[in-house]
Amino acid sequence: MAIFSLPLTERPAWKALRTHYDFIRTLSLRRLFADDPKRGERLAIDGAGFYLDYSKNLVTDETLKLLIKLAEESDLRSRIEAMFRGDKVNVTENRSVLHIALRAPRGMSILVDGENVVAQVQGVLDKMSIFSERVRVGEWKGYTGKRIRNIINIGIGGSDLGPVMAYEALKYYSDRSMTFRFVSNVDGTDFVEATRDLDPAETLFIGSSKTFTTLETMTNAASARQWLLNGLGGDPKAIAKHFVAVSTNRAKVSEFGIDPANMFEFWDWVGGRYSMDSAIGLSTMVAIGPDHFRALLEGFHVMDEHFRTAPFEENLPVLMGLFTIWYTDFFGAQTVAVLPYEQYLKRFPAYLQQLTMESNGKHVTLEGAKVTYDTGPIYWGEPGTNGQHSFYQLIHQGTRLIPCDFIAFAQTLNPIGRHHDILMANVFAQTEALAFGKTADEVRAEGTPEWLVPHRVFEGNRPSNTILAERLTPAALGGLVALYEHSVFTQGAIWNIDSFDQWGVELGKLLAQRIIPELERKDDPDLKHDSSTTALIHRYRKMKES
Ligand code: F6P
Repeated sequence: MAIFSLPLTERPAWKALRTHYDFIRTLSLRRLFADDPKRGERLAIDGAGFYLDYSKNLVTDETLKLLIKLAEESDLRSRIEAMFRGDKVNVTENRSVLHIALRAPRGMSILVDGENVVAQVQGVLDKMSIFSERVRVGEWKGYTGKRIRNIINIGIGGSDLGPVMAYEALKYYSDRSMTFRFVSNVDGTDFVEATRDLDPAETLFIGSSKTFTTLETMTNAASARQWLLNGLGGDPKAIAKHFVAVSTNRAKVSEFGIDPANMFEFWDWVGGRYSMDSAIGLSTMVAIGPDHFRALLEGFHVMDEHFRTAPFEENLPVLMGLFTIWYTDFFGAQTVAVLPYEQYLKRFPAYLQQLTMESNGKHVTLEGAKVTYDTGPIYWGEPGTNGQHSFYQLIHQGTRLIPCDFIAFAQTLNPIGRHHDILMANVFAQTEALAFGKTADEVRAEGTPEWLVPHRVFEGNRPSNTILAERLTPAALGGLVALYEHSVFTQGAIWNIDSFDQWGVELGKLLAQRIIPELERKDDPDLKHDSSTTALIHRYRKMKES
């Protein structure tokens, strides 16, 4: 029997890691660094334009050996090849998972059901480029002949978080004469606030939805159409100049009233949370221009190739995925903090939450058996240094182990005064403080009164990765996103779960559809919910009328 067909916890490497963990718990990062003065240089790698310092993790050479053995015993290499080949690795939806094809260079061939999908991708990219340029140079006019100055992306989940994150991240490269907004929430406030100061004659909506059936997006799109009609004299023909769509569902796009000529296509082998580099990135392309968008794709591709070809010991996404497994399953860590020291990446943690948690928040294996180990941790974070004045206290001195990813760039895009050195000093200071802390003796030596000593002790031994790149360029953003995409893949492959479905979002959607008419109908509905839900609905119906 092949080792990878053994349950995960029965594999030799997993068992060895269990025993090894008892030893690691007795070590400290202070000791590990003292015993190996070159550790900080040794446990660091360069790859795909990134420097990953993983020396401040609770690992030894033996840990690394065992984690890599676990990856091998889990057949990670074949799983990577299967994804890149276009095998249907999303088994519960019987789909290929080919976001890597979205950034494959023109001329490459990846076949899905006998069709070369790279050619299709390049065709859509060309169409997006023509459209984006027409909007950017003012050639695409609105219904009244005015040029388009405002772009509003309507979408949710993967059809929103990627576009908004990428827009914020690459704002430096964007056309500052245009306004970009993103409407996602079904809460009408989102739409109203996004449009209140805009002229419909200068506004173009991008309806972004893989399925073109999502309740939030369709509700917002209907309000957008009404807003346009109200503002443009009520002629339905006006819509064609102010609404384009990004979707896999041509029929639904037509049904909504958008000319399929103004639809930008993608495919069911692109998961929503893996789609920011597909046509879902249309708002990004309009903002930064086709050349920068191509550079973004190239950055993704460089990381894809690194992931596919680098030995596991030197493979950034594999190592990061393995560390997450190490802390989640052996240390019992519940979360991972992602801390970008780059203001432009302020929405990156929110983006990562869908990528990581919708992918790996799963409770059964590919075969449908309940897992006997923890899967996807909670990802969260805020940009530095803001977080330092908020939740870092708990990371430094709380009772929970929170592995942290620090993300930073050597060169700022906005060099003013001393800001960047101060920012970077904080990155290095935080990882140092987390790892090495401050002992009671050190606190006493500063003349601290004895009663205060325990409060001022930092235990240290808090693990972190430091991810360093030269500068936040479109290519660097692509590489960074791909780094996390493939780290998520690595985790999912070892946990033997389907990282590409999302059945867990269905039940709430279904129940909401049932409740909507119960809230809207005039006469008293005969409710068949549990007593809490029934009482809440009755209370809401009463309160909304008072
Ligand atoms: O929340 C569930 C989900 O299906 C996500 O996976 C997806 O990104 C989002 O809804 C939006 O879906 P669509 O692009 O089809 O509107």
